[in-house]
Amino acid sequence: MILRLLLAMDRQALQRRYKKLLSDLDVLVTSPKGRKHLWDRIARETCDVVMIHASMLPADLDEKLQRFKSLIHSPSLVILSDREDPEQRAKLLAAGCDAVLNESLPEQELKEVLGTIISRRNELNKQRLELKQLAIHTPKLGDFISRSRAMQDLMKLTRRLVDADASVLILGETGVGKERLARAIHLDSARREGTFVAVNCGALPESLLESELFGHEEGAFTGATRARRGCFEMAHRGTILLDEIGEMPFHLQVRLLRVLQEREIQRVGGEWPIRVDVRVMAATSRDIGELVERGEFRSDLLYRLSVVRLRVPPLRERRDDIPELVSSYMEYFRKTMCRQVTGIREEALEAMLAYGWPGNVRELVNVVERAMLLGEGAEIGIEDLPEEIVCVGKPGGSASRLSGFADRRLSFPAHWFKRPLHEARDELYTEFERAYLTALLEETGGHINETAKRAGVTPRALFDKMQRCQLKKESFKPKKARRPARSS
Ligand SMILES: Nc1ncnc2c1ncn2[C@@H]1O[C@H](COP(=O)(O)OP(=O)(O)OP(=O)(O)O)[C@@H](O)[C@H]1O
Ligand SMILES: [Mg+2]
Repeated sequence: MILRLLLAMDRQALQRRYKKLLSDLDVLVTSPKGRKHLWDRIARETCDVVMIHASMLPADLDEKLQRFKSLIHSPSLVILSDREDPEQRAKLLAAGCDAVLNESLPEQELKEVLGTIISRRNELNKQRLELKQLAIHTPKLGDFISRSRAMQDLMKLTRRLVDADASVLILGETGVGKERLARAIHLDSARREGTFVAVNCGALPESLLESELFGHEEGAFTGATRARRGCFEMAHRGTILLDEIGEMPFHLQVRLLRVLQEREIQRVGGEWPIRVDVRVMAATSRDIGELVERGEFRSDLLYRLSVVRLRVPPLRERRDDIPELVSSYMEYFRKTMCRQVTGIREEALEAMLAYGWPGNVRELVNVVERAMLLGEGAEIGIEDLPEEIVCVGKPGGSASRLSGFADRRLSFPAHWFKRPLHEARDELYTEFERAYLTALLEETGGHINETAKRAGVTPRALFDKMQRCQLKKESFKPKKARRPARSS
């Protein structure tokens, strides 16, 4: 993520000098206009680094700094000073400033110091994001939003089986939260101290999946230079989730059935059985009954796996949960992106409530993230939502514009329908944005302000979009015409 730096210098020349110097570093520079209530405005801005001249610091600095430093994502603070004053320097550092630099430091040295501060900040942001993601990936049953009747019923049933230790089969469309539910059951159960291991049975070729699940002994096959524990062993005293169980190859289904019956595994190439104490859960978005009917999935294994069946309802069957899901993810992204988006406008929420959500909660998370990233207002508006959500039910909406694909006048890229709808859509969206911006930047010769004006976005938003599309303004600068060599 690009870092935002707020630059507040007391002189125009100095401001220009630092802007130029910073343009070589990977940061987006903004400057507050005017000096009135400057410090309060700085404290309200969402930025990663504040670079301010000592002459602009408030008189009651100690108190102001304390408040500033207590912000959740308080920015790194760099003070520039025009004189060497060891006493003031010590005071500022003690008050929590990250660096105090003399404004007349040679350019190269300044760049190095600022580069270090920026990369340290980047590291800090990354750590914060990881911590947040960890929190969102360790859900508890109590965290599940259940305003809807369908979710309340599911949670009631789930609570009853948490400690039963029976195997559980979780059914539901893609992105409804099957893995999230499995993790929550594990974390609420008596096995919470053990490890939760999720294996995607559809992601590996048959031979690798076998060794992934059961492990192998040294020399079991070419390349097995060392013995390795499999997921069942790693989940000993914990829980294993066999995700996409419908994809499990038939011959492994037989092995799995034996493991479930005997509670023992045998490593590939191993001679002795190993006892494992594991709660087994499985999940699938496919119609597993149909797979059994077609002879692709063993019915005896299905019975063993589904002592209890849980069906996570698709989002369109629990629309009452949508407002709270939106606001909880807005809260999440507000913190991780440092954006001050305060809410969502009525019409935007209505469009989200009416939409069908084929990609379920995963799609909703993507839509909220995108709206918060691209949106420029204080609230998410209808203009920040993808077209298919805005156009739901509107005659002449996206459907008619894309009818070229529907009636095959335009060739439909085959790889699109090999992927989930939301992924194909995101790809189309990014490609369109890249093509649009490339054309416009070419016309303006890479002039940021002009391009932003014509695209109807702020320069800051344009900068973000260019980053995402990996476009650099330098590539669009008109090349200087070279004088033809004079022939003698
Ligand atoms: N009730 C929920 N509350 C908050 N976030 C949720 C909820 N359900 C799902 N999510 C989020 O949606 C995303 C998809 O969830 P998850 O991976 O559990 O779905 P899944 O059903 O296993 O999907 P797939 O079938 O594609 O494997 C994750 O980012 C998850 O955190
Ligand atoms: Mg899953």
